Amino acid sequence: MKKLIIANWKMNPPTLKKAKELFSATTNYKLQAKNAEIVIVPPFIYLSELLKIKNSPKQSTLATGQIKLKIGAQNIFWATEGAYTGEISPKMLKDLYVDYAIIGHSERRKYAAETDEMINKKVIAALKESLKVILCVGEPLEIRKKGKKAAMNFVKNQLQKDLKGLKGKLLNNKLIIAYEPIWAIGTGISATPETALETIKYIKKLLITNYQLLTPRVLYGGSVDSKNIKGFLQHNEIDGALVGGASLNAKEFKKIVELTNKIN
Ligand code: PGA
Repeated sequence: MKKLIIANWKMNPPTLKKAKELFSATTNYKLQAKNAEIVIVPPFIYLSELLKIKNSPKQSTLATGQIKLKIGAQNIFWATEGAYTGEISPKMLKDLYVDYAIIGHSERRKYAAETDEMINKKVIAALKESLKVILCVGEPLEIRKKGKKAAMNFVKNQLQKDLKGLKGKLLNNKLIIAYEPIWAIGTGISATPETALETIKYIKKLLITNYQLLTPRVLYGGSVDSKNIKGFLQHNEIDGALVGGASLNAKEFKKIVELTNKIN
């Protein structure tokens, strides 16, 4: 299966002009990414403009169909429409031809006080609109310090709540898990490939046995860059990476894609 590389721009860059420049520099070259699928996830406010660029004939020729380029959203709300000031629904995103939604990112759990119950509703709503879900899970430092069993239990508990009521057909080919230990996000200190691998193997086992997923896809995220990407992706079980900071530098991101492409 192709490795999935997701660029999570978070609340960057600060202007539409810069967002367009970054998007073009990130995607506007002859990518020979046969082994990689790429998803760019910009702030909501830039989605329509970037989709216009993506779908313009010029962009399509340059991307030449050799790369699967998709667009995602960083969050969604669970209702379809109504009195929910400030929220964006999965239906609105689907209408723009957005394909993916990140749900439950630790920054939303922290700064927007999202609970597992809210995240569960969002996952259900996204799946209903056929958006592919990138569900983020991962333990904080104080749990990791207690050892790997504690970390795995933490993640198991998140999955149990976030995927409540879902399994099998509802999730197959629609759910992607990003294992993102909180202590590795934006810190420059990534997990070791070994830690990522053992946790991802554990998550896959859970997805198969408890959620009847046939071919679970699990990514690693947390301080991924062009220097460490190979260490993660050379393992068959690690299906890709969720890249934050390094995706804001087009050259760096291009290197990540090229290195991914050489794996297999
Ligand atoms: P980072 O962010 O690569 O800057 O650590 C990853 C993420 O939060 O998705």
